[in-house]
Amino acid sequence: MPNDYQEIKIVQEPPLTWIILNRPEKLNALSLRMLDELSSALEELSTDKSIRVILIKGNPEGRSFSAGMDISAFVNLKPLDALHISKRLQEVINKLEMFPKPVIAVIDGYALGGGFELALGCDFRIASNRAELGLPEIKLGLMPGGGGTQRLPRIVGEAKAKEIIMFGERLKSEDALKIGLVNWVVPPEKLDEEARKVAQKLAEAPPIAIMTVKNVIRLTRHGLLEEGQMFEATSFASLFATKDAAEGVSAFLNKRKPSFIGE
Ligand code: COA
Repeated sequence: MPNDYQEIKIVQEPPLTWIILNRPEKLNALSLRMLDELSSALEELSTDKSIRVILIKGNPEGRSFSAGMDISAFVNLKPLDALHISKRLQEVINKLEMFPKPVIAVIDGYALGGGFELALGCDFRIASNRAELGLPEIKLGLMPGGGGTQRLPRIVGEAKAKEIIMFGERLKSEDALKIGLVNWVVPPEKLDEEARKVAQKLAEAPPIAIMTVKNVIRLTRHGLLEEGQMFEATSFASLFATKDAAEGVSAFLNKRKPSFIGE
């Protein structure tokens, strides 16, 4: 992958790839350029068979995962331009959610506003015990615009989501853990290592089954139980066409570790 990005960095560790949000002087705040770069990187990585899991983190010099959308762009911003920014942020976060491989947000320091919403679009969130997460837009006279009002209530429930959005206070990672907002909390010096361990486990899983589970959970979220179950059953059935299912069953019966190839 060409690494001529400026506001993100790509670090390849096949079968893992790190995407590093890279505007440390602005606490890795998200710019439109950064969103464009993130979008292109995701497109390239989606079809790269050597990569099975994406990890996203902030440049550690920025003391943050990301402090949100770049507020300097909000000065005298017209509503129509704000609409475009919001739609663009939503689009890129949707791309993360629809990404065919697992995506893990690795959070140290601040994850605020759009940065927090970006983490909500990931499949998993692992945070250091000094991380602080929140949606402080209300303090700017604004509100979340990157899917926060939609994804947060689905993860933590409406009442908790309203509390986080309307008070705009930052949560410590331990409190985020208690409400299921982050999956794991670890000491800062172990964060990358623990994130790598989680990613490595996911990288050993059968890629087509993983992609299918992601799709089934996402696409049946609002439907009827019956519709969801039908989609689940047909998806389950379709996996029997994969070499990985044959490998998984055979490995189990022969008491050996399976090796999945993504076919
Ligand atoms: N957009 C643009 N610049 C930002 C930013 C953002 N979201 N968050 C931080 N920065 C910039 C600061 O303006 C500052 O730039 P400067 O050195 O040129 O003055 C630099 O990053 C360092 O931030 P600073 O505020 O000095 O660090 P701090 O440790 O005192 O405070 C925060 C850290 C995260 C509490 C504080 O920066 C903050 O509240 N940021 C905004 C968070 C937010 O509201 N996000 C939602 C946006 S919609």
